[in-house]
Amino acid sequence: MSDPISAAWDRLAAIRPSALADLFEADPARVEKLSRRLEFGLGELGDVGMLFDWSKTHLTDDALSAFEDLAAACDFAERREALFTGGIVNPTEGRAANHGAMRGSGPEAEVEEAAALLARMGMLVGAIHEGALGEVRHLIHIGIGGSALGPAMAVDALTRDGARVDVHVVSNIDGLALEQAFAACDPASTLIAVASKTFTTIETMTNAASALKWLDENGVADPYGRVVALTANPDRAVEWGVDETRVLPFPESVGGRYSLWSSIGFPVALACGMEDFRALLAGAKAIDDHFRAAEGRENVPLLAAFADQYYARLRGCQTRAVFAYDERLALLPDYLQQLEMESNGKRVTVEGKPVAGPTAPVTWGGVGTDAQHAVFQLLHQGTHLVPVDFIASIAPGDMLDPAHHRALLMNCLAQGAALMAGSGNEDPARAYPGDRPSAMILVDDIDAATLGALIAFHEHRTFANAVLMRINPFDQFGVELGKAIAKRIGAGEGEFDPSTRALMQAAGLG
Ligand code: F6P
Repeated sequence: MSDPISAAWDRLAAIRPSALADLFEADPARVEKLSRRLEFGLGELGDVGMLFDWSKTHLTDDALSAFEDLAAACDFAERREALFTGGIVNPTEGRAANHGAMRGSGPEAEVEEAAALLARMGMLVGAIHEGALGEVRHLIHIGIGGSALGPAMAVDALTRDGARVDVHVVSNIDGLALEQAFAACDPASTLIAVASKTFTTIETMTNAASALKWLDENGVADPYGRVVALTANPDRAVEWGVDETRVLPFPESVGGRYSLWSSIGFPVALACGMEDFRALLAGAKAIDDHFRAAEGRENVPLLAAFADQYYARLRGCQTRAVFAYDERLALLPDYLQQLEMESNGKRVTVEGKPVAGPTAPVTWGGVGTDAQHAVFQLLHQGTHLVPVDFIASIAPGDMLDPAHHRALLMNCLAQGAALMAGSGNEDPARAYPGDRPSAMILVDDIDAATLGALIAFHEHRTFANAVLMRINPFDQFGVELGKAIAKRIGAGEGEFDPSTRALMQAAGLG
């Protein structure tokens, strides 16, 4: 007799896939069954309305039942509870994952600590806005990975109509990135945020040192006095030279790619104000509450994970694509790449055994309508099956003729319809096979609260996928080997393969 996990997968594998058009034909209630509208009233912080339509995926009632059994067999409810109660959900590092506490979801002690840290950040942000550090027109935010992608995306999304401080996020060790930020900033009115959980990351510490040098060489009397540190290693930040009053700490149990909610979100608060930052947290908390309470297919992140698992494991899809039909979400695909690929790009289970099937697909995407004129050819007629997510807002982000936004939405809806319907033609080059899946997230508007909810939805979707694959989404040992070898190359130490040796010589590193 097979175990309950294999039994659920066997049931899923035995379901013969029907064409999407046939699924709609067979079930007039399909749209209602596979769509969920979530609405949250957040008082002064705003309202969130989001429609999730997963009906253009191949999920069926049978598949959903089998996935619900799979979730039960994988102890989904227990693992979810562990996530919210400070359980060790990151066993390889012996840690909890307390990012939820940063927005008020989690064990009382952690939630209280987070509220105190947030209040501290609020005081510093308020003081800067009131001029305590002199004129501050620019912020160069230096960080990489999770210490950069979240702030960059949120600032970009929420400041299209203006920012209180002009933020430049610099991540790459390539000096060109920092030079470009320098060129756009006046040193006398620039603050530097050094964002690093560990405060040891080579890219960040190198860029931070160069930024201080730039301030010094440009007449700023006390460069260290212009630095704010955002870190889980406050001692090291103080040792490095940042005054304790400008060190904004966050707990070690908040993972890098889940850290936007902590002091790593400082540039969002500085650019948009604390009110917006609190709204971002409140939107995320609303999704936490939904994820924690809703069961089975009613749980939207879990429902999305069912579809993700269906395509990755049962249909062999090696990628998934996300297209935001909104300029404000232009950086969302980059953000999701780290969230999903660094979390779930693993090959062993929590017990250290090989995972039975493929894990995270490659996440990629872009902005509509631009992507239609660049990569959609492959989605419609290529040989790869790519499940697509579309994200759009009912309210426009622009003040131009409403025709712009109308055309944007028309195009977005048309792509999902076209992928599914396809179109026959006697000429094979002009025929569209159709039956290609897509999902839609249609939000009422894009504001801080909705953005928070959108990100938290993806965090929980990623967690739900990890539970269904039985992997640990909270470590990232796969990034370490390359870092270690880069150090050895720099030091000219150790044995290298012939190709790397030759390249070191050619690059002047030999
Ligand atoms: O190298 C990967 C990584 O550890 C990411 O997980 C993390 O977001 C990034 O580097 C930056 O780390 P830190 O915030 O410690 O500088």
